[in-house]
Amino acid sequence: MRTIMILNAKGGCGKTTLATNLASYYAWERGQQVALADFDPQASSLAWLQAREAQWPEIKGIAAFRGPVRAPKDTEVMIMDAPARVQGAELAALVRRVQTIVVPVLPSPIDIRAAADFMKELLTTGKVSRQQTRVAVVANRVRENTLIYHTLHAFLKSLKIPFVTSLRDTQNYIRAEEKGIGIFEMAPSQTWQDREQWEPLVRWLRSRRSQPLA
Ligand SMILES: Nc1ncnc2c1ncn2[C@@H]1O[C@H](COP(=O)(O)OP(=O)(O)OP(=O)(O)O)[C@@H](O)[C@H]1O
Ligand SMILES: [Mg+2]
Repeated sequence: MRTIMILNAKGGCGKTTLATNLASYYAWERGQQVALADFDPQASSLAWLQAREAQWPEIKGIAAFRGPVRAPKDTEVMIMDAPARVQGAELAALVRRVQTIVVPVLPSPIDIRAAADFMKELLTTGKVSRQQTRVAVVANRVRENTLIYHTLHAFLKSLKIPFVTSLRDTQNYIRAEEKGIGIFEMAPSQTWQDREQWEPLVRWLRSRRSQPLA
């Protein structure tokens, strides 16, 4: 089973948005059996699943914040939505569970500063430091021609891990969120720019480079 967690100690950077859209990608675009494990007691990913209508491929929800995570039989991909403010032992425990971590970062001075601290801790956490859990960063809610995006770009480039893509700031994510779907399940004419921006991320997730070193 493929296990992918969306993680960043900073609140509101797009963890749930990336988790739900990634779950939709594997279920809709790749036809795989997907489970979405919500580690956040706010349960936003589970709320998204509740809004999801029966016409869309089923994604199984797991209330991981309540206790032990058991993936339903036949699960091929498990996407995990982490809560904000994780650190120390709790962070190490989350990292222990997964093959791959995706860290979204927003273009704002506060988010960049918080991400610098968080990445320092994450990259020295057991399994990550041994490359048994692989990490990539993603810029989220980007407006290309802004000074702060250039600052974020330079910061993410300076890290010793892959900076795989930048996702734009668009109402498409809000519209998708309302309906319990992902941008992949919306009209391509409306979402082609977003699909293009997701491509490098899903390509990295398919590659050996995102999977644990033996
Ligand atoms: N690329 C984007 N474009 C527009 N809106 C976005 C984008 N990414 C996230 N958002 C919006 O920003 C808000 C915060 O995103 P989200 O809930 O995914 O963050 P989070 O990291 O899960 O937050 P928390 O730490 O509270 O769990 C949401 O309202 C979401 O719809
Ligand atoms: Mg969230």
